[in-house]
Amino acid sequence: MLRYLTAGESHGKALVVVVEGLPAGLPVTADAVQGELGRRRLGYGRGPRMRFEVDEITLLAGIRHGRTLGSPVAIEIANTEWPKWEEEMSPHPGAPSRVLTTPRPGHADLAGMQKYGFDDARDVLERASARETAARVAAGALAKALLSQLGVDVISHVVAIGPEAVKGTVRPGPADLETVDASPVRCFDTEAEERMVAAIKAAAKEGDSLGGVVEVLASGVPVGLGSHVHWDRRLDGLLAQALMSIQAVKHVDIGEGGTTPALRGSEAHDAISWDESAGAYHRETSRAGGIEGGMSTGGLVVARAGMKPLATLNRPVLATVDVVTKESTVSFKERTDVTAVPAMGVVAETMTALVLAAEALRKFGGDSLAEVLRNRDGFLASLR
Ligand SMILES: Cc1cc2nc3c(=O)[nH]c(=O)nc-3n(C[C@H](O)[C@H](O)[C@H](O)COP(=O)(O)O)c2cc1C
Repeated sequence: MLRYLTAGESHGKALVVVVEGLPAGLPVTADAVQGELGRRRLGYGRGPRMRFEVDEITLLAGIRHGRTLGSPVAIEIANTEWPKWEEEMSPHPGAPSRVLTTPRPGHADLAGMQKYGFDDARDVLERASARETAARVAAGALAKALLSQLGVDVISHVVAIGPEAVKGTVRPGPADLETVDASPVRCFDTEAEERMVAAIKAAAKEGDSLGGVVEVLASGVPVGLGSHVHWDRRLDGLLAQALMSIQAVKHVDIGEGGTTPALRGSEAHDAISWDESAGAYHRETSRAGGIEGGMSTGGLVVARAGMKPLATLNRPVLATVDVVTKESTVSFKERTDVTAVPAMGVVAETMTALVLAAEALRKFGGDSLAEVLRNRDGFLASLR
């Protein structure tokens, strides 16, 4: 079983992730992990933190000479800004120099303060922050390394920012990922990209923020990941939970699940045919997003994740209350992101890759990569 655990606060000394259950012999490099972390920082509309902070990684355990050992893999991502935060975030007994008593609407602050009994919003927001997704992305790089050995590619592209959406359904393939990443909004459609950039500029000018939607595409996924036999083994359910767990994601679609409820049954499904030359079943459409009955069908896995507009604004507009005085005030912070949808897409790839890697290991599991590949080949041969 593949499992992982992250630890670390946004301005703490470091983030740490421990990934357990990877087979031995999987090629992994620090560059691959660093590369994925670099992609998480992408996107027009990000704040200044992305520029001055660097993700400095250390492969702490579980990898020797570029290959996994089958033992837990531990990765540390140091906070290069730590010297500035050392006193405020010190683990030693003492007190912060400044207590944040005005919880920000749209964040975990108030519910977290009430739930855990804190007077300082920082005790909540440090962990609730999406900085934590850097640790997930490091784990996702390992999942992607495994999936690439199985011939599976997971990519994403932005399909909407605020009211500006791509028209039509042109989808990038794995070879287009560099083009997508080179777009300032990680959009594959240059016409839509211009509209999205203009929308971000307009929102920035007014001190406002924007949400949006990304589409995640996983190609090469073999038939049979996930299962219909239990509610908590359904691949669509696992993907929905994983994507919804990303900070600020409020909407997940599998395939065309966002539009098919309005259609008739005759228009909403993927007809099956037999391709004699390929010796395989074939579906012309992928409305179900490559998942039927909670199992991958062997087709393109498609999921969409919709993110709410960021709650921290550059304009003092959202009302809140000081938890000590109970006086009304406004939630305000200078220089926050205008949108983080392009970066969220990279995190959505990560979460999808982690689910697919876990399910691939459940189906083809073995102690070494060679054993996993043998099991996979045996299963695929049995289908012919
Ligand atoms: C990649 C990424 C970057 C984010 N950056 C910001 C930000 O700059 N400002 C902000 O207010 N929220 C940001 N968020 C969202 C917050 O972290 C916060 O957790 C979220 O708005 C709370 O929503 P929830 O109710 O879904 O937890 C970001 C989320 C992601 C995925």
